[in-house]
Amino acid sequence: MRKLLLAVMLTGLTSTAAAQTKIEVLARTCNTCHGTGGVSAGTSMPSIGGLPREYLKRVMKQWKYDERSSITMGRIVKGFSDDEIDALAAYFASREWTPTPQKAAADALAAGEEAVRRVCTDCHGMKGGDPDIDAPPLDGQWGKYMAIEVEKYLSPEFKMPHRRMGKAVTEVKATEAEAAVRYFGAQGR
Ligand code: HEC
Ligand code: HEC
Repeated sequence: MRKLLLAVMLTGLTSTAAAQTKIEVLARTCNTCHGTGGVSAGTSMPSIGGLPREYLKRVMKQWKYDERSSITMGRIVKGFSDDEIDALAAYFASREWTPTPQKAAADALAAGEEAVRRVCTDCHGMKGGDPDIDAPPLDGQWGKYMAIEVEKYLSPEFKMPHRRMGKAVTEVKATEAEAAVRYFGAQGR
């Protein structure tokens, strides 16, 4: 009986360890584009290490079930089970968010700061590092990537299901939204 119990326990252990190894192997395939540990080398590729777990799960499942447009990610996540998506979300959420502060012209920063104070700070915090529960951190995220995302929220051809964020970008001029994301991209911790 004791032997049987031990065997059962060992099998349990091995399969947990195997599952963990499998996720690490899967996560390594993300590094090609998102950088080691999910810290991207830029500029149109987002950092994903340290994004909130619920956000990671949500966007990956929206891609998988065709509820959110993408250029690349839809194809990638369709190959994963929901459990694998949850495990990947837990894996990247357990890392620390690492901003990559980028240089920007002083006038763009000033215009960006003004737009952020007027519209974006409510949900992202003044420097992008104090997000609402359903928003990702934007401090030191890549500015070029964020500008592309803003275009998607504004464009009817792209399915971006978050209505409040979609509405927020219509409350500033396109040049102000661009300046705002440059301002967020310039922030460090
Ligand atoms: C071939 C390059 C490539 C690979 C490999 C890749 N991604 Fe992506 N990822 C992208 C691109 C490009 C985007 C921007 C969305 C889009 O258009 O697809 C993105 C966006 C994301 C985002 C959204 C980030 C944000 O701030 O909203 C998450 C999360 C993500 N990827 C997770 C992953 C995970 C997890 C893996 C590994 C299983 C992975 N990606 C592998 C290219 C890639
Ligand atoms: C009402 C709250 C709210 C306001 C106001 C708001 N945002 Fe957002 N933002 C969000 C949420 C929530 C998300 C994630 C949305 C999703 O799941 O698609 C988001 C996502 C983003 C993203 C995509 C990040 C990524 O990693 O893909 C960018 C860029 C962004 N916001 C910039 C801005 C800018 C610039 C402003 C001001 C003009 C702004 N936001 C105002 C809530 C808000």
